[in-house]
This record gives sequence, C-alpha cells and structure tokens, in this order.
Amino acid sequence: MGPLQIKELLKASPEQQSVTVKGWVRTKRESKNAIFIALNDGSTIHNIQAVAEPGQFSAELLLTVTTGACLNITGQLVESQGSGQAVEVKIQDIHVYGAADPEVYPLQPKRHSLEFLREIAHLRPRTNTFSAILRIRHTLAFAVHKYYNDKGFFYLHTPVITASDAEGAGEMFRVTTLDLNKLPRTEEGDINFKEDFFGREANLTVSGQLEGELGAMALSKIYTFGPTFRAENSNTTRHLAEFWMIEPEMAFFELKDNMDLAEDFVKTVISYAMENCKDDLEFLQNRLAEEEKNKPQNERSQPLLEKLSFVVDNPFERLTYTEAIEILLKSKPHKEKKFQYPVGWGIDLSSEHERYLVEKHFKKPVILTNYPREIKSFYMKLDEDGKTVRAMDVLFPGIGEIIGGSQREEDYDKLLQRVHEVGIDPQNLWWYLETRKFGTAPHSGFGLGFERLVLFVTGMSNIRDVIPFPRYPKSAEF
Ligand code: 4AD
Ligand code: MG
Repeated sequence: MGPLQIKELLKASPEQQSVTVKGWVRTKRESKNAIFIALNDGSTIHNIQAVAEPGQFSAELLLTVTTGACLNITGQLVESQGSGQAVEVKIQDIHVYGAADPEVYPLQPKRHSLEFLREIAHLRPRTNTFSAILRIRHTLAFAVHKYYNDKGFFYLHTPVITASDAEGAGEMFRVTTLDLNKLPRTEEGDINFKEDFFGREANLTVSGQLEGELGAMALSKIYTFGPTFRAENSNTTRHLAEFWMIEPEMAFFELKDNMDLAEDFVKTVISYAMENCKDDLEFLQNRLAEEEKNKPQNERSQPLLEKLSFVVDNPFERLTYTEAIEILLKSKPHKEKKFQYPVGWGIDLSSEHERYLVEKHFKKPVILTNYPREIKSFYMKLDEDGKTVRAMDVLFPGIGEIIGGSQREEDYDKLLQRVHEVGIDPQNLWWYLETRKFGTAPHSGFGLGFERLVLFVTGMSNIRDVIPFPRYPKSAEF
C-alpha cells in the first residue's frame, strides 16, 4: 500500500532497518563530511533528514537534487547524529523522479509573500504554511462529519444546481447550455429558457438550506456540507465566490436549541483540531509571532493556541440585536463618529460594528439574535412583536460573522405572506411551502462558512489562503 509516510518513519525506532522514503526536497546542504537532504512528503510539517557521504554519488546526480525535486531514497533508518531529529536515513541509493531546475523553480527555501504564493497556487501546497493549512482543513472537515455522526444527524446531499435563490439576495451564477451567441427568444422577445437544459432558469446554489429543511421534515436531524456559490462582487479578505458551507437542520429545535448546538459544534471541532494538529498549529503560531515581531507589544495578537483555547473554554455572549444596537449607540467610536457606517435600529450591522462588539466590548464570541425582519431572509420565524425574526448570527474575533441561522417560519400563511412581501414567485417554491401544509413542525438550522472557520483556526488573515484553489472576482486560474 505504498511507502511508509514520513510521519510514521519519524516515529519508528532506528534499528538500521532498510527503508524507502519518497518526497520532495526542501533543502540540500553540503558540508565537508556529509550531504544532508531534507525531504518532505506532506504527511507532516517535519522533514526527514537523509544523509550521504561526500563522493558517494556523482556530481551530476547531486546537481539535480535541489529544492523541489522529487526523490525516491532507499537507505537505513538510524539514530540521528544531529540534534534536530531522533532518526535519519543513511542513504544507499537515490532515484530522482523529477528534477526542479533552480533557475526557474519558483519556490526557494526562503520566505515568499502570500500574495506571490497565490499566483502559484499549483505549487503552494508544497510550502510549510500551506501544507499545514491543508492538513488542518482536512482535520476540521473530518471533525465536522464526526460531530454530526456522533450526534445522530444524517448527511444529506443537497443539489448544487438549483432553480431557487435560497437567500433571496440575487447573487447567483447562472447554469446554462444555451448558445450565448444565438439565444432562443419568446414571442415577447425574452430569452426562452424552456429551451435550456433544464427547461427553466437554473443557477449554482447559494445554500443547501431549503432542501435541507425537506430532509429534516423526515429524518429530524440532517446536515449538508457542500460547495456553495455567490456572485457577490466583494473583494474582501472574508468572501469567496465558491466556498463550503455546513448546514445542519433540525426538526423540533427552537432558537435556544439552535444556539446551543452552534456553540457546542464550533467548540468541539476547534478542540478536535487542537488535539490532532498540534505540530501544524504550533508552526502557524510561530509564523504569526515572527510576522508580528516588529509590532509594538500591545499591538501583537494573542498567540494562536491561546486564542483557540479561550474560545473553547468560555461561554459565548448571547444578546439580541436590539441590545447590541444600544451598546453601539453608547460606544466611543459612535460618539466620536469613528464608524464609517451610521448606527441605528434597523441597520444591517457592518463588519466594523460586529468587530467592535466582539473584539472591544465583549472580547469573546457573540451570538446576536432577533434581528429586524427587513434585513433577514424570508424563511425566518417572525417574533411575537411582528418586527423581529428569530435569527441568530455567531460573530467571531477577527472574522465577524462565522455562522448565520434561525428558527424557521413553520406557519404556512405567515410564510406565504413573507414570500409575497419579498417578491418571490410562490410557484417556484411550491415544494418548500408544502412542508408547511403537510405535517409542519417547529424547526431550526444554521450555516457555518467552512473557510471562515479554517481562517480562524489557522490564524491566517485572508480567506483566499485557506482553500486550495480560491475563486474570487477575476480569478479562476487553477
Ligand atoms: O448567513 P448566510 O448567508 O446563511 C445562509 O446561507 C443560510 N441559508 C444558512 C442556514 O441557515 N442554513 O451564510 C452562512 C455563512 C456565513 O455566516 C459565513 O460564514 C459564510 O456562510 N459565508 C461566506 N463565506 C465565504 N465567502 C462568502 N461569500 C460567504 N457568504 C457567506
Ligand atoms: Mg448571514
């Protein structure tokens, strides 16, 4: 089943046994007495050191052993003479699978900027930073499935191609097979989508929620975990055009149950990553500290692992939107007119407001509830006052909104009225509306933006650096 991973080899006891190591050269160092090759196969942040004697191999072969080259090394696993590692490989033979001409290979053993690495996204997984991020990303994804499986949820695969705009924000990518140069027209001159592949307009989904609700009305507790797409033209460090979302949906859950689940869920998956990605998190923590070395002490961020422990160990602050607005109105930046956007009941909080609440006022994650109905989606359950809805957003330090969710409107008439109010054609949602006609039930759910979670856990600052191949305006290269 393939060679032993370097991660395993580094844990093996060195008994002069023969081993095969395959991987990419991180560095090669030649001294008078030995040649040291640091090899990495991505299984761990740590390299294995392979050592050859001077003169053991031809100069011609050694010239091709440079950073980035892929090697197959055979040798013996021995106790390391050096101090950096417990074991090393005493090389018997080197086979070069593929050289990487140092004149042109862009990844050299030095610090590259994240902006530059984004331009070579096909190679950046070979850097320590990105391989660490990708391993943490994997671990978090695994933890998500484990969490819901352990809690009796069923993984529901909701469609990627849909005809409905779940969030009603009109930020969808169209899916069509029509010839854009020869669009079929109706008698009125409109594009005739009856001739399109699905016989109707279709888009990439912005959320699996609506279909998720159909699942919850049968299986009680489901979750989706899939790609979602938003054609919002926001060039920020928090937005992607293609991102992954985890959306649990639960029958018989009210808003409080929904909040409890959201809080327990994020805490559990973060703890899982802390237990299972120690080396990678330590590496990223040191990287961050290095980056902030030149900042004054009071401007440096909390060490990564400390920040994660803090979130896991402390209860999130819970308050209503109305209470949050009162806090903002009394805040220093509001009084000193430092906020870019005005504060007042009814506004859609902008990230400066969210971050003030989380980072300055409460200094911990916050769950805001009961937002004005006008700024939230049509499916949220109306509160008794008729002005607010049973929404909940979870806000995180450095990130802002990481989760958005709500209790759902289960009353057919109220839901239909909201559908009309926001201008959705009920014909398009007849199947969704029918769940409220047949055996309706109180239910709730939320969506966690997976990349925002990975961003938080890795301490990175740009969402484009926590997904292997980011999609954002004017960028779909790789
Ligand atoms: O708040 P949103 O829009 O909620 C929904 O889509 C609901 N249908 C979820 C539900 O109740 N089932 O999005 C949910 C989360 C946000 O809190 C944010 O973390 C993430 O998805 N998100 C994005 N992440 C990256 N790039 C974008 N453009 C994002 N838009 C939303
Ligand atoms: Mg939201």
